[in-house]
Amino acid sequence: MAALFPLVLTRPVASQSTQSVRMTVSDDGHVFRMDGADVSYVFGVNNQQQLQTIYWGRRLAPEDHFPAPQSGRGYASFDLPINVTQHEFVGWGGGLYLEPDVKITFPDGNRDLVLQFVSSKLESDALRVVMKDISREVYVTLHYAMDRETGIVRRWTDIENRTGAPFTIEQAAAGTFNLPRSADYHLHFLSGRWAGEWNVRDEAIRGGKIVLESRRGSTGSQNNPFFAIDRDVSTNQEQGEVYFGALAWSGSWQISVEQDAFQQVHVTGGLNAFDFGYRLKSGETFETPAFYGGFSDHGLGGASRLMHRLEIDSIVPGAPHPRLRPVLYNSWEATEFNVDEAGQMALAEKAASIGAERFVMDDGWFGKRNNDSAGLGDWYVNPQKFPHGLKPLIDKVHSLGMQFGLWVEPEMVNPDSDLYRAHPDWVLNFPGRPRTEGRNQLVLNLARPDVRAYVLGFLEKLLDENQIDFLKWDYNRNWSEPGWPAVPPEDEKSVYYDYVRNFYGILAELRAKHPQLEIESCSGGGSRVDLGVLRYADQVWPSDNTNPVDRLLIQNGFTYAYSPGLMMAWVTDSGNVPGQAAYSLSFRFLSSMQGALGVGADLNKYTPAEMAEAKRLIADYKAIRETVQRGALYRILSPENDRERSATEYVSRDGKQVVVFAMLITGMEHYAYPTLKLHGLDEDAMYKLTAFEGNAERGTPAVASGAYWMHRGLDPALYGNFQGAGFTLEKVEAQ
Ligand code: GLA
Repeated sequence: MAALFPLVLTRPVASQSTQSVRMTVSDDGHVFRMDGADVSYVFGVNNQQQLQTIYWGRRLAPEDHFPAPQSGRGYASFDLPINVTQHEFVGWGGGLYLEPDVKITFPDGNRDLVLQFVSSKLESDALRVVMKDISREVYVTLHYAMDRETGIVRRWTDIENRTGAPFTIEQAAAGTFNLPRSADYHLHFLSGRWAGEWNVRDEAIRGGKIVLESRRGSTGSQNNPFFAIDRDVSTNQEQGEVYFGALAWSGSWQISVEQDAFQQVHVTGGLNAFDFGYRLKSGETFETPAFYGGFSDHGLGGASRLMHRLEIDSIVPGAPHPRLRPVLYNSWEATEFNVDEAGQMALAEKAASIGAERFVMDDGWFGKRNNDSAGLGDWYVNPQKFPHGLKPLIDKVHSLGMQFGLWVEPEMVNPDSDLYRAHPDWVLNFPGRPRTEGRNQLVLNLARPDVRAYVLGFLEKLLDENQIDFLKWDYNRNWSEPGWPAVPPEDEKSVYYDYVRNFYGILAELRAKHPQLEIESCSGGGSRVDLGVLRYADQVWPSDNTNPVDRLLIQNGFTYAYSPGLMMAWVTDSGNVPGQAAYSLSFRFLSSMQGALGVGADLNKYTPAEMAEAKRLIADYKAIRETVQRGALYRILSPENDRERSATEYVSRDGKQVVVFAMLITGMEHYAYPTLKLHGLDEDAMYKLTAFEGNAERGTPAVASGAYWMHRGLDPALYGNFQGAGFTLEKVEAQ
């Protein structure tokens, strides 16, 4: 058996953590092992020189050794051996019927690609493994890194052409994650639509393939590039083994979950192969997006907490110490396009008076933008609405002690705009075909160098000339007619890749030149939320639907994959239809305080009493926000089950503060709220309960042990409809 030479890698420790990742290669160079947090991931070179998964799951002992793997044996003449093996990365060729990681067409028509192991290299905190086609000079480098806090594996792949002639990549994944053999897996995923994003769905994984995807040119909300897989019966929010992951890509993507003929499950993630083609010249290298995969044996809740940790500690700008989200005010639902200097100044004063820390002016400030039919693309300040430019408003906002933020939608154009009149060829289009509009707008082809330069240029100018602290970056439609007539036909389909690369490139350049600038990714709501854009975006907008009841469901789904600390949640007037039951301000705030709090209501309509209540609740939020935004989230009562109740719990990283939100959407008369058994407390420590909003049932102790709150639980006193309560439990320090 091969001995393992451990190489212990410790990155500079920025948090309190002392964790490290241990990466090892066997002495014959054929078995690779990563151990980090609670996870081990092992793969190796098999007897066919293919890369094969050996083990992925709960961390093993360092003494556990693995021999190099043996490829699957063929079964009859119908399932050639290549289809029986759990490949880390496989080309389409050699009789493969399963989802390939890469498919290439060579100029001579040859489409066979059989990759074999060449070499490996351990470098700083990553592993590189090189494969090559059996006869052609196609090199594929697989990159692996493991996050030390979560054990989540990050994989991406470079495809290099050294053949001397261009070839076309028709499919490219970061790689494949293989699950231990079992016939009872279940897939959980997120799907939705505009204003109804983030529904949690699940499906049994049986013979065949489930494809989660976007063909829309961007991430989309029909599916989010996230998966979680557990076993049929044994898992719930807090128990059971879960394999999960997400793709870091904001363009058309696909994650295919395939159970092969031998009941092995393969999860392959990368670019969407549909309508894709990338002509790679000789000497060039193509880099796939990254695909992350993790393991938890603490149920779907445990998987979510690891995702949150990964995002906050190693993905978003400023990681591992990103700034806490400021309380934001946004005027969109109050004024829509009717923005002007006096109106915005008045709202800014009101926003500051209740404790907002960032004031954001939304759509309508530029060009001839009075509604959604004109002006997009003309990024000059509207002189009627702001005769003195933005400076007086920005100065005012700053003098009130708030940051100033501005809405932009850089990648779009209204046909009724000066930009489109000057450059009708700048949009995605097929010549001679209709240009299908969505919200009266077309998509600029950001893959074009001139469009990239224009977008970066106007944003640079805006940021250089104004003291802007924050951009809300919107993207209000998906693609149609994705043609790029300016390039040779054989290069047109690379638009799916080049567009996204340029999008990231612009964000990276803006952030490098303006280190204090923060950015929100918004796409008419939650249609561009993924681990790719989160490298450049400090926060995201989950949905245009701000109804506080609908939001409980939306936020519940969002947090399966993404941290509450990235999730903007505004208190608005939405859902308060005249003549129908109104949601109290308290209920609306409690719904939004479960993420990064904002206010989007028309403060001009608030009574003095409502202003005072809002001010008090914002102050309450500031006292708990670090726990909500950084803590460990437990979904105690999930609204996805019955839509009657929702309860969430957040435990701060230092374990000293616990925050609980209990929401009753609709209750039967005289029925008490379920007892909330808390999680993640120290059994022996004492915790002091405070209801900052609403009450606990009479008889609830003011101070009790962690064991009490976890096993006896907390009873919120909630009766009726649209009621909420908020609690903190503070750890009582031993005397
Ligand atoms: C999108 C956003 C909204 C708002 C409007 C402005 O719908 O999601 O929040 O900014 O655009 O047009």
